[in-house]
Amino acid sequence: MSLIKTVDLQVLGDERGSLVSIESYKNISFEIKRVYYLFDTKSSVSRGFHAHKELKQLVVVVRGSCKFIVDDGLSQESIVLNDPSKGLLIESFLWREMHDFSDDCVIMVLASEHYDENDYIRNYDDFIKYVGSL
Ligand code: TYD
Repeated sequence: MSLIKTVDLQVLGDERGSLVSIESYKNISFEIKRVYYLFDTKSSVSRGFHAHKELKQLVVVVRGSCKFIVDDGLSQESIVLNDPSKGLLIESFLWREMHDFSDDCVIMVLASEHYDENDYIRNYDDFIKYVGSL
């Protein structure tokens, strides 16, 4: 089974432009408690490098492109996200990294929980121990 789970988001477009709507339990399997977005990311800098114990997230690159690496402790897969009608679902206990941000990259993240630093696993060796003990 692929570690990369993408969701196709319907584009409601007309001559005025495009619109995508995301609703809990309709095109996303969890209740959205938090939204955050990343912008002004530097192409030479990588981000992420953590996993979550509980948190589920849907990531949408609404402008530009970015490479995501998803790792379950056994294998690693990557995807370049460059389409605002495609979401990447990242569930719990998946290590994620973000690389190769385009200069115009804007990433919106819909999250199932409020921000909680205790939910983070920020050390890769700890992550491997965690997934090994599940
Ligand atoms: P961080 O998790 O390090 O970002 P990334 O995984 O994209 O590299 O978050 C950067 C900072 O922002 C860090 O100090 C935690 C803080 N933060 C919040 O306060 N609330 C949030 O919802 C998020 C995602 C981060």
